[in-house]
Amino acid sequence: MAETLKKGTPAGTGRGLPIPADAPALVIDGLVVEHRNRTTGEVFRAVDGVSLRVGAGESSAVVGESGSGKTTLALAAIGLGPRTGGDVRLLGHELASLGRRRLRKLRPEVQVVFQDPHGSLDARQSVRSGLRELRGLQRERTAWIDDAGLLDRVRLSPDLLDRYPHQLSGGQAQRVCIARALLMRPRLIVADEPTSGLDVSVQADVLALLREVRESTGAALLMISHDLAVVRSVCDSVHVMRNGRAVESGPCETVFTDPADGYTRELLAAMPGARWRARR
Ligand SMILES: Nc1ncnc2c1ncn2[C@@H]1O[C@H](COP(=O)(O)OP(=O)(O)OP(=O)(O)O)[C@@H](O)[C@H]1O
Ligand SMILES: [Mg+2]
Repeated sequence: MAETLKKGTPAGTGRGLPIPADAPALVIDGLVVEHRNRTTGEVFRAVDGVSLRVGAGESSAVVGESGSGKTTLALAAIGLGPRTGGDVRLLGHELASLGRRRLRKLRPEVQVVFQDPHGSLDARQSVRSGLRELRGLQRERTAWIDDAGLLDRVRLSPDLLDRYPHQLSGGQAQRVCIARALLMRPRLIVADEPTSGLDVSVQADVLALLREVRESTGAALLMISHDLAVVRSVCDSVHVMRNGRAVESGPCETVFTDPADGYTRELLAAMPGARWRARR
């Protein structure tokens, strides 16, 4: 599975798994992920008992400083990274009881947008041939739109279809990544710092696009970010992580206007142009 992590969003093959109509996109209960240092044998707990829920079509964020365990949590939650303990239900399926084959069948329903769009795209493939490859893997699922229509959905000119990744700007490359995710009509999009590798001038556009894609497709979104302003503009709820633990969770409005945890208050105070001031 590691190769799908490096190049493009995981596509999966064949027929999908049935997904119960009312299934939440993601339910995590007491997730623990430990990494073992191969040299010293020491065990490091990167995720330490985190619980969260993203309902169908909802958008939820995980925020926290670098190294707090956000990416580890997200990868474990979608079966792309190791899981030491706890329960994960992905689109109504218990991850622990899904074998590799059944997990692969669930793959197209869960699309990932990574921080570095150029690193996510295969440098040897034009945009068109990359899309052709995805279509070959998922014929029925991807037949709903043609390439030009798809690029139009992410506001890119069809002229870009014959370009290679190095001929795209960061913002254009991230739009291509979002288009590739959109092509699969996923139920859940995981976006790991989708704008932090981009020029500030295009960040807002890419966020607006993600929001629009989510609303128009009804997909749920799990957004990972260290940038609270990003989270507030896109997500309904937020989970604040520190040292592998969720120190505060709730609707964005509540967490941003009346944070209960001291660490959340520190994060908010550090926001550029922060208007939030301690009420206590
Ligand atoms: N494969 C691994 N082996 C050992 N330790 C790891 C591994 N992957 C991550 N870690 C450690 O786990 C912790 C959490 O890492 P993670 O990448 O999840 O953080 P993050 O919150 O996503 O950080 P960032 O904002 O920098 O992306 C870090 O201390 C990291 O060094
Ligand atoms: Mg990360």
